[in-house]
Amino acid sequence: MIQFLIAFFKLLNMYFNKIACRKLIIVGLLLFLFSFLRAQQNTIAIETKNDALVLQAGKDSLLRIVYFGKKLLNNAEYALVSSQYHKDDNNVGINNSVYTPAGTWNLLEPAIQVVHADGNHSLELKYVNSFVKKVDDNTTLTSVLLRDPVYPFEVTLFFKTWFNENVTEQWCEIKHTEKKPVVMEKYASANLYFTNKKYFLTQFQGSWAREMRPEETELTAGIKTLDTKLGTRADLFQPPSFALSFDKPATEDDGVVMLGTLAWSGNYKIDFEKDAYEHLRLIAGINPYTSEYTLQPNQTFTTPGFIYTYSENGKGEASRNMQSWARKYRLLDGEGNRLTLLNNWEATYFGFDENKLVSLFKGAKDLGVDMFLLDDGWFANKYPRNDDHAGLGDWQENKKKLPSGIGYLVKEASNAGVKFGIWVEPEMVSPKSELYENHVDWVLREPQRPEHYYRNQLVLDLSNPEVQNFVYGILDTLFTKNPQLAFIKWDCNAVIFNAHSMYLEKNKLPQSQLYVDYVNGLYKVLQRLRVKYPTVPMMLCSGGGGRVDYGALQYFTEFWPSDNTDPLERVFIQWNYSYFYPAIATCNHVTDWSKLPLKYRTDVAMMGKLGFDIVVNDLSADDLKFAQQSVANYKSFSNVVWHGDQYRLVDPYENDFMSIMYIDNAKNKAIMFNYLVNFRFSLGATIEPVKFKGLDANKKYSVKEINLYPGINSRINSSQTFSGDYLMTVGFNPDVDTRRTSVILEIDEVK
Ligand code: DGJ
Repeated sequence: MIQFLIAFFKLLNMYFNKIACRKLIIVGLLLFLFSFLRAQQNTIAIETKNDALVLQAGKDSLLRIVYFGKKLLNNAEYALVSSQYHKDDNNVGINNSVYTPAGTWNLLEPAIQVVHADGNHSLELKYVNSFVKKVDDNTTLTSVLLRDPVYPFEVTLFFKTWFNENVTEQWCEIKHTEKKPVVMEKYASANLYFTNKKYFLTQFQGSWAREMRPEETELTAGIKTLDTKLGTRADLFQPPSFALSFDKPATEDDGVVMLGTLAWSGNYKIDFEKDAYEHLRLIAGINPYTSEYTLQPNQTFTTPGFIYTYSENGKGEASRNMQSWARKYRLLDGEGNRLTLLNNWEATYFGFDENKLVSLFKGAKDLGVDMFLLDDGWFANKYPRNDDHAGLGDWQENKKKLPSGIGYLVKEASNAGVKFGIWVEPEMVSPKSELYENHVDWVLREPQRPEHYYRNQLVLDLSNPEVQNFVYGILDTLFTKNPQLAFIKWDCNAVIFNAHSMYLEKNKLPQSQLYVDYVNGLYKVLQRLRVKYPTVPMMLCSGGGGRVDYGALQYFTEFWPSDNTDPLERVFIQWNYSYFYPAIATCNHVTDWSKLPLKYRTDVAMMGKLGFDIVVNDLSADDLKFAQQSVANYKSFSNVVWHGDQYRLVDPYENDFMSIMYIDNAKNKAIMFNYLVNFRFSLGATIEPVKFKGLDANKKYSVKEINLYPGINSRINSSQTFSGDYLMTVGFNPDVDTRRTSVILEIDEVK
């Protein structure tokens, strides 16, 4: 284009060199060239391998989203996209704002809403400049500065992209130099705009022991909101994760879909607003609900990240993108290994002492797992933790139950040949505790009102730096006294009732900062812990899956999806988490919650990170043999489940059984799990083959059934070999029925 302009200019010069207005023409052309280059510069394409988000500043210097979707071959053409849209009312030009300010001329849901130091409520954000920084071969950070022309108030938008994984994380920094503080009433992380015809939202609903129930609806005009106001275990009813399909509902391998999630462990709000053009605005961030934040001059407020991936090939590809990104870039030690374990929660609840625990260590060793995990009930003396009514906050070993202390247990576990891990719930306090008696000012409570309890407990005030030190100290003391401690299960069983902080009150800070300062206080503690203890594995637990998000998961190696360990329920729960989280992060324990056969229970738990929560001594000889063999089998293929690509093959919501497959990166080995989910007479039999996915069409594979219960022979003939092409085109019948309710197949390349 530039060369063309130069040639054109030379031509004109030849014709007009004798004319007096020559100078004028030159100036005109230079102006044209300048504005052309400016338009080019002000089109910002944020690309990954397959998709692009394109921002463009108009003549008015307002930055808008002009494109979102499949990447164009020639990125110079992004500059031309906006010319194809002809919208003509007075409000045009704000619907697709890259970060919609409230006040001035916006009529829609804002991304940011502030009250300036002088009490004025208006905000306009104009484009100033943008920078692109290559973080590494795969990662790029684009920053875009927006500024109010009237007030010294600015927002920097950040877009971090991981090219190969097609993942983008968006967040922003907000800052001002007004004379006095500015009150931010809303401060979202991301504001996107989609120009499709129809939008189908899959959200996930639930509560304790029934997490992640999906529901898909077509979005209609107006605003659909996903949000939470629970404070701590904010995802109890609804996680900050969704799938958004464009034009038609996406399936596993077909359709255009975005998976989105907010990396924030507190209150969030995600709005989907269908505007008058039937285009969709998405605004995601911290929930503004009672959360006005006072920003001092020169203070920077950083919003949490909104993470998304986009695929034109259905939910399967999108979730493989998300899982692979999480393993490589977000989850702590996402590409490492995990410890198999025996937990004592469902085996003993609060009823144990050190002798009983030591006897259970032998069970862990017998099973062949790596570690014993001591759960709730080991602490507090004045108000012993013998049930869930007392003791939280008093993190000293209970002298009656554990007279020889944790150190003794760590040593005995080691003598038994297993590692030792421990449960804590450090953000909480029981009203019956010494901590409450001595530090009532550390507790979130309304001083003039009766206390409301959730699981008989209260939440500590993590906005208070002293409380942050206390929480850090609980873990630090445990590790200092017991350097061999191998694992932490970090629980969180209460929501924030009584949302009042004595710390904020004493320091004359607004109570409306509590929800945000709580989460940032928690992150400060976790950051500090990770500086001193960078590698120790920690499970993110919240009475089940009450707090699962990528804000917290950068400090944790894994999470507890649900207290519901009934394997039939777990098939569905684990299926739904898999859209957003990799199997290596998903802890599954074999328990006695259900009467389904041990094989079914164990096979389901293997589809992630395997653990047990049973009394090993109570197992029959065959059950023990089976469990031992399962642990050994699991160790032989866990590399594929933890680090391989996952393919959801048969949907349990639409079929009588479910099939899921993991395949290693070299496509040499795959593990396929099949579970019956409908036990009614004559239903559930796999009468047809299941088509595999992700194999190499040109390789030959053997298919062998593994993890059979002692004395049971497989119906699968494992002497045959098949091409990857055959297995993916014709398929293979795992032969699931009411006598074979759970079938694991191992698929190996045959050379
Ligand atoms: C809730 C957790 O989800 C359970 O696994 C167990 O640790 C209990 N808390 C202990 O109180």
